[in-house]
Amino acid sequence: MHSLTLASLIVLAGLVAGITLPAVTDPDVINATCQAIVAAISSESAVYYEGDQYDKDIYHWASSSTQEAGCAVEPGTPEDVGTVLQIIAENNCAFAVKGGGHTSNPGFSSTPGVQIAMYRFSEVIYNSTTQTVTVGAGLIWDDVYAALEPHGVNVVGGRVTGVGVAGFTLGGGYSWLTNQYGLTIDNVEAYELVLPNGTIASVTQSSYSDLFFALKGGFNNFGIVTRFTLKAFPQGEGGAIVFLGSADEVTTATANFSANSTDPKASIITTYNYLFGLPAISAILFYDGPSPPAGIFDEFLAIPYLSKDITGLRAVFNTVSVTGYPMELLQAISDEAAHWAESLLLSSGVFISYDVEPFLSSIFTHNTSSSAYPGSRELAVYPLNLYFGWWTSAADEKMQNAIRTTASTLYNKAIQLGQNISGAPLYNNYAIFDTPLESMYGENLQALQQIKNIVDPTNVMGLAGGFKF
Ligand SMILES: Cc1cc2nc3c(=O)[nH]c(=O)nc-3n(C[C@H](O)[C@H](O)[C@H](O)COP(=O)(O)OP(=O)(O)OC[C@H]3O[C@@H](n4cnc5c(N)ncnc54)[C@H](O)[C@@H]3O)c2cc1C
Ligand SMILES: *[C@@H]1O[C@H](CO)[C@@H](O)[C@H](O)[C@H]1NC(C)=O
Ligand SMILES: *[C@@H]1O[C@H](CO)[C@@H](O)[C@H](O)[C@H]1NC(C)=O
Ligand SMILES: *[C@@H]1O[C@H](CO)[C@@H](O)[C@H](O)[C@H]1NC(C)=O
Ligand SMILES: *[C@@H]1O[C@H](CO)[C@@H](O)[C@H](O)[C@H]1NC(C)=O
Ligand SMILES: *[C@@H]1O[C@H](CO)[C@@H](O)[C@H](O)[C@H]1NC(C)=O
Ligand SMILES: *[C@@H]1O[C@H](CO)[C@@H](O)[C@H](O)[C@H]1NC(C)=O
Ligand SMILES: *[C@@H]1O[C@H](CO)[C@@H](O)[C@H](O)[C@H]1NC(C)=O
Repeated sequence: MHSLTLASLIVLAGLVAGITLPAVTDPDVINATCQAIVAAISSESAVYYEGDQYDKDIYHWASSSTQEAGCAVEPGTPEDVGTVLQIIAENNCAFAVKGGGHTSNPGFSSTPGVQIAMYRFSEVIYNSTTQTVTVGAGLIWDDVYAALEPHGVNVVGGRVTGVGVAGFTLGGGYSWLTNQYGLTIDNVEAYELVLPNGTIASVTQSSYSDLFFALKGGFNNFGIVTRFTLKAFPQGEGGAIVFLGSADEVTTATANFSANSTDPKASIITTYNYLFGLPAISAILFYDGPSPPAGIFDEFLAIPYLSKDITGLRAVFNTVSVTGYPMELLQAISDEAAHWAESLLLSSGVFISYDVEPFLSSIFTHNTSSSAYPGSRELAVYPLNLYFGWWTSAADEKMQNAIRTTASTLYNKAIQLGQNISGAPLYNNYAIFDTPLESMYGENLQALQQIKNIVDPTNVMGLAGGFKF
């Protein structure tokens, strides 16, 4: 109890002084916070200190994004989320909120403090009158697609198995359906949000226009989202076809597709992958045709080239935003992949992946309201996703530096090829942890900081990691 009181006093002192204090990671304070949560939550929620459920709650796709937490909390109601946030705030305790756990950035959804895992928010409710789907923040896209299949509808969601609905939708969301309907954030109608002070808010364009804008790219800065309401679209007879080929074949076809495709139903990802130094170069074509056979999502979600599912690897992502993928740029990407695959092999770099993601130039025109991300919608840019995977923590810094260097090399190459990308917004869900906020949010950043100060004056959400406004 002593530490609790002390922590509260420190918070009060901080408030009076108008400063932001670092999150407390003292094990006694964390334990006291966990105990207080146990005592306060309803029977819909639970707290775990160890065991299978605890392990699931702290799990991340990248092992470098996992930390041992003091306890794992699975809230089952928005009211309990509010209670948990209030107790965390009183104790100034470090915490994290996790959806699918797919962030590649360490500490963004993990913590040594209180790990909140959203798994109990797991419903998928289709409303045929409004043509919307309300989905829980603890789901992964696989579950959403499976639940929607019987209704013959679909949403603008993830392309790869295992990715969480929450982080994807709070960042931006590049989907197979993006050429047709825009980013996932362009297709959100409402958020159920637990504000930093514990109040539950239904956030729509008309109820809270500022927060509605801010949540479209603003991650965990404004509270904890418990449910998303997304637009539903008729499910197409889709399918993914994998083209395996030589680097030259795949590169030529990709350059042609990138320059010449005008069909919004067609989408590709070309990957220059190296596993243990050996190339695996492929393109995956997705086509959203007119009449749906059952089970199409199972098919494409299972494609091993994209799933990148070598479990237990440490990982880092980075990104460059380009205005196109001409032959010369693809050649440079291919060369970079080969170079780093070879030079990082001896420092335990086992998986080197460059994902080329061309979209139509109409990509940023589908929004029905403004959004935090991208910083500007004026210029159409497409993300290049860089991913390095390795085994040992001793190599963390080397890998992070290498992925910064290769991003910078390819950025300079694109500039040299005449692409005017100097202010182009970087995709927040691919950007490495120390990316400047301006690079992603551009001129929206000031507005986001103002909204943040109003909604979270004591910076409760600052006790969790992530890109912070
Ligand atoms: C294999 C793989 C494939 C990918 N494919 C794509 C792709 O095709 N398109 C694309 O756009 N992106 C893709 N991504 C990136 C992906 O969008 C991000 O990693 C995303 O953040 C994952 O969401 P999550 O819920 O799993 O992440 P988490 O790690 O759980 O969360 C990510 C961030 O969101 C915050 N957050 C989570 N839940 C909540 C909540 N309920 N309320 C408030 N904040 C919350 C966390 O605190 C954290 O900051 C991919 C990533 C991987 C690893
Ligand atoms: C946490 O606090 C409880 C009650 O005060 C105590 O019984 C327990 O041993 C503590 N656990 C740890 C890991 O400190
Ligand atoms: C669907 O939305 C309409 C309009 O908001 C509402 O009246 C109706 O109750 C909803 N149906 C379901 C099943 O939730
Ligand atoms: C380029 O793509 C078009 C279809 O968009 C196709 O007809 C043509 O054969 C392709 N050319 C090459 C060189 O691949
Ligand atoms: C685009 O299509 C035209 C006409 O078929 C072709 O000449 C050109 O080479 C294609 N562009 C690329 C980059 O392949
Ligand atoms: C898209 O969003 C921008 C702000 O980011 C806004 O200026 C523009 O009007 C929006 N476009 C549409 C079609 O809603
Ligand atoms: C490059 O883009 C910036 C905005 O990002 C713009 O101000 C500038 O005019 C552009 N330059 C050219 C040569 O197109
Ligand atoms: C919680 O924050 C919201 C948003 O700033 C505010 O409208 C509401 O009054 C606050 N509630 C309490 C109980 O302080």
